[in-house]
This record gives sequence, C-alpha cells and structure tokens, in this order.
Amino acid sequence: MKKVKFSFFCQNCGHQSPKWLGKCPSCNQWNPFVEEEIRSDPRTDRSEYAMSEAPLSINAIVSDEKERISTGMAEMDRVLGGGLVGGSVVLVGGDPGIGKSTLLLQVLSRMAQNNLKVLYISGEESAKQIKLRGRRIGASSDNLMILVEISLENILQQIKAIAPAVVVIDSIQTVYSPVLSSAPGSVGQVRETAEQLILLSKKSGIPVFLIGHVTKDGAIAGPKVLEHMVDTVLYFEGDSGHAYRIIRGIKNRFGPTHEIGVFEMRDNGLNEVSNPSAFFLAERPEGAPGSVVAPSIEGTRPILIEIQSLVHPTNFGLPRRTAIGVDHNRVALLVAVMDKICGLHLSNHDIYLNVVGGVRVDEPAIDLGIVSSMASSFLDRPIDAGTVVLGEIGLTGEIRGVSQMDARIREAARMGFNRCILPKTQTHDISRETKIALNKISNLKELIEHLF
Ligand code: TYD
Ligand code: MG
Repeated sequence: MKKVKFSFFCQNCGHQSPKWLGKCPSCNQWNPFVEEEIRSDPRTDRSEYAMSEAPLSINAIVSDEKERISTGMAEMDRVLGGGLVGGSVVLVGGDPGIGKSTLLLQVLSRMAQNNLKVLYISGEESAKQIKLRGRRIGASSDNLMILVEISLENILQQIKAIAPAVVVIDSIQTVYSPVLSSAPGSVGQVRETAEQLILLSKKSGIPVFLIGHVTKDGAIAGPKVLEHMVDTVLYFEGDSGHAYRIIRGIKNRFGPTHEIGVFEMRDNGLNEVSNPSAFFLAERPEGAPGSVVAPSIEGTRPILIEIQSLVHPTNFGLPRRTAIGVDHNRVALLVAVMDKICGLHLSNHDIYLNVVGGVRVDEPAIDLGIVSSMASSFLDRPIDAGTVVLGEIGLTGEIRGVSQMDARIREAARMGFNRCILPKTQTHDISRETKIALNKISNLKELIEHLF
C-alpha cells in the first residue's frame, strides 16, 4: 500500500513544517498550522508540463502585445494596464461582500455583449442566485455561460471543451482536487488547483480571473504563495458602509502597478467613476478648519484627495494618535517637525487624521497636506477652499520636490482650484499655461504664513 505523507502547513503563507508549531517562523502569525497531505505520487504523465519544444531566439518569438482584450470597463482596463493579456492569470482579492462576484460578472457580461464567449464558474452560489444577480446588473447574453462546479477535473474539462475567451473562477478557495485529501481552501488545495489552472491558461492562451478571499488582516486567505504564481494581483477595497469601491493593482507583469480604478456600488451593480477627484471632493466642507486638498498620484493618474484632521487637547494620560489612509509613523514624524520648526506644540493634543473616501496614500508628496491640515485644526483657522498644497517635508523643515508636478497641478486647475502651495525647488517642471497662482515655499515656516 502506498504510504501517505503528512506535514504541517501555515494557512497564511504556506510555510511547511514537519511538526506543529504555535507561531509561524515565516510570517509570524499565531496558530496557523494545519496538517495536510503532501502529494507524494509525482505526476506519471509529465507531458502536461511541457510548454514548447526547443529554445527560440528572442527575435523569433512573435509577441501578441496588441492582442489585449478589452474588459468593456475602462476602469478595469486601466488597472490591468490596457486590457487583458492572453494567457494571463489575474487574482482578484477582497473582503467578503465587497462586490468581487458582482464586478467580475459585470466584466464578463460586457465582454459577452462584445461577442466573446465567456465562462463564469462558481463554487459559492447556485445558478439561480447568479441569475438573480445577473438580472440586477443587466447581464443577458447567450455568450455568457455559467457553470456551478467545484471539482478541478470537471472545471478543466469544461474549459477545454467550451474554449471561452475568458474564464472567471469564483472562488479559488472552493475548487477541489481529488489528488489531495485536504479540504478545499487549504494551502495545499489552493496551490494545486491554482497551478493546474495557470498551466491551462498558459498553454491555451485563455485569460483566467481567480477570485480569492481575504483574511481579516488583509492578506489573500491562505496562500501568499498564490500571489507569486499569478501574473496580476488586484485588490478590491472599500468600506461596505460606503458606496465607493476601489480596485487596486498590487502586482502586474503586464502593466503599471499601483494603478487604481474607482467604482460606485448602486442597486444596478458597480458603476464606473471616471472623475475620481470630483467624487472624493464631493462632500468637502468649505471653510472648516482641519480640511485641506492635496493632489496625489495614484498609479499613473493624479487624484485630488481631501485630508481632514481633528486636533484636540488631551484630557488625561497619553495623547491619542490615529491616522487613517496614511502611515501613522509619518504623521508622528511630521508632528515632531512642526513642534521643533514652527513652534506648533501638538505634543499634548490628541490627533485624528483621515484621508476622505477610504483611499490610502503612501507617497511623501502629501506631507504638506498632512501638516497643513493639522495646523489648521490646531489653530482653528480654515484654509482657503481654492487652495491645494503639495510637497515633501524633510526633517529640518525644508520642503522638497515631488514627482509629476505638472500633472498634479493640471488636475488641480481642472477641478477649479486657484492657488497651489508648492516647493520652490521645482517650479521649472510646471508648464507656463497653468492658470493657477503658485506660492513657492522652501521651508515649513513659510507654509504657515501662506496658509493663514
Ligand atoms: P458580492 O459581489 O456578492 O461580493 P463578494 O463576491 O465580494 O463577496 O457583493 C454583494 C454585495 O453587493 C451585497 O452586499 C449587495 C451589494 N450589491 C449591490 O449593492 N447592488 C447590486 O446591484 C449587487 C449585485 C450587489
Ligand atoms: Mg462572491
């Protein structure tokens, strides 16, 4: 009888250990280990792993770059870097209920309308439930095929038989391969099933979307390994309490990363937001202390974001510092610089800082925005509603230049802002025809003079 081997696998990152451990040495998660079978029989038929016969000169390889397939949704195409690439595998992660199934059903429905035969495979919902959702989003096309299935074998067989233009697997955690005895959704199963689907995609050239669940701390559940295997990783984020949704590129072998697409969830599904600046600034309170607008670059496009803060004397004990949408260490650093350079003593104040709209901004170009917002709330003086600020702040209070200055300023001008406070060092990047007043500053002290 064949001996079955078992080992323990971290359900978060896929780390393998011969014995049970309380804490994963690789990703430092507590209690993630589950015993799973190791696939011991090496595939007898190795031919399925063969890709091509002999090495080719790079000049002899025909590139099919032009053959990007449009998803029918401009925001989705943008995040993918201009459309889907044949034979690519895209992982879409996101919290439960955020709208992953809705988004991909919508994408398939649009593609079906463009006369492409597409296949939506679900292991989570019945065909009737999918039909109900389809009715809400207006999906009706003979080209949109639905398959409810969790067996990998059947899935592979059906994809080969139908040969669709695109396949969606909703979700990779429900797909089950009988080669392994472990439960669907375990690291071993996810890795095995994803591997088979990726192989099929590469050989047949059919692009595949894999939907993946996300754990409470934001990683794609189970296998971080999955992120390395696929070509593109997209995260679908947003707050289920709000209508906006953001799809963000984390990894992309065929396009720019950190590109975002913005959607709004309505009762007829997801609607594209083609002017995100207007969307994020829609509810801005004018003349309220603590609110300021800063032009940020998300991927390749500028987006105006509103930063709000509330600075309030601490009543007892340690002051509280909360920053949503920006790095809180950066905020702590800027508070120290404000204290030292401008004499704005925030050390005994609670600080709550928020980037409105649920966007996360990780670039130093919004330093000036963060400081302006905190200063405005601290001094209880509003910032002029037609002003935007941008620039990085150094530890000695100097204002440093930022990338893509011209694009940011153009976006601010387009949205009707009439004044921009920016680093003095960088004014040569700005085209002459901008109709916006430029206040050039070189250190933090000047910022306060210009703001109020
Ligand atoms: P869903 O796509 O099922 O999420 P996921 O697959 O990521 O778990 O999203 C379902 C949510 O979206 C649910 O809370 C209802 C909401 N929704 C709408 O608001 N409008 C719609 O037209 C649809 C189809 C869903
Ligand atoms: Mg779903």
